[in-house]
Amino acid sequence: MRPAPALALAALCLLALPAAAAAATYFGLTGRDVLTPFPGLGTAAAPAQAGAHLKQCDLLKLSRRQKQLCRREPGLAETLRDAAHLGLLECQFQFRQERWNCSLEGRTGLLQRGFKETAFLYAVSAAALTHALARACSAGRMERCTCDDSPGLESRQAWQWGVCGDNLKYSTKFLSNFLGPKRGSKDLRARADAHNTHVGIKAVKSGLRTTCKCHGVSGSCAVRTCWKQLSPFRETGQVLKLRYDTAVKVSSATNEALGRLELWAPAKPGGPAKGLAPRPGDLVYMEDSPSFCRPSKYSPGTAGRVCSRDASCSSLCCGRGYDTQSRMVAFSCHCQVQWCCYVECQQCAQQELVYTCKR
Ligand SMILES: *[C@@H]1O[C@H](CO)[C@@H](O)[C@H](O)[C@H]1NC(C)=O
Repeated sequence: MRPAPALALAALCLLALPAAAAAATYFGLTGRDVLTPFPGLGTAAAPAQAGAHLKQCDLLKLSRRQKQLCRREPGLAETLRDAAHLGLLECQFQFRQERWNCSLEGRTGLLQRGFKETAFLYAVSAAALTHALARACSAGRMERCTCDDSPGLESRQAWQWGVCGDNLKYSTKFLSNFLGPKRGSKDLRARADAHNTHVGIKAVKSGLRTTCKCHGVSGSCAVRTCWKQLSPFRETGQVLKLRYDTAVKVSSATNEALGRLELWAPAKPGGPAKGLAPRPGDLVYMEDSPSFCRPSKYSPGTAGRVCSRDASCSSLCCGRGYDTQSRMVAFSCHCQVQWCCYVECQQCAQQELVYTCKR
């Protein structure tokens, strides 16, 4: 059943309303380098004066080489911050019902290990960066990237019509440079980090869609404009979460022929005797994760987490049980769509039971 136009409109408007309130940024880019919380994040616009972006680059915690790249690329610092928000919010959304909820507490510890969670962090960071860069590029927020540098009639038409595709080509090229040529096969973890980073970039790439629009007298489609469009980042997050769920445990093996270290998934019963290299889309990890039940250097534990009595409390609370509280919650009700895009609601209140994990 197709929703009535007014309803569809309301859904759109509502989606646009809760613009994600951005929390502090503390986000793994290469693992060892993290973006530190940024003063006045997301509120004050960057001062539009020459050299302002240099200062912004200095405020981010980047490696020396990354800082250099940042300074050379006006617009990059803001984009890095956007990417950090995007990745963090998506990670927290995807893990909202797991024992590890992607909290910032313990992030540094996690990034130095080889857990499944580490793998996800690398992948989602790389994906967010790829996505944010491509978007910034097509929105003209970065000086050095052109709208679309792929030759061909299609893109030139798009340019003529002022429709700019999401520039993924630029974004991935820049990113592989920015994240650095990881010098080869130093150790297993470096290989795994690089692999998982690549999984993230790939997930964004494979979500690219071609969108077309017709022009001409009363939609006759005499002229068609096409452009490439990224899928919403939520979809990329979902893909990566699935990859996390099916992540492959690897160990290392020296490839005699090539003389270098390679990732190797051990043989499974019934599978090939030698084991297999992980597929390019698999997230890989080396160590089994801790339970995340108790506070540790990787997470604050699950005490105080809100859970759903019928679904998540038993696993989330790790058998410690849960407290039940009753509280009044306010919610919007009797909503009516006014002229686009505006929804008017009343406030209602309702008794609600809240379950939280015991200490
Ligand atoms: C994650 O869980 C901790 C408690 O274990 C809580 O303090 C924190 O607010 C949660 N973070 C998110 C993003 O839900």
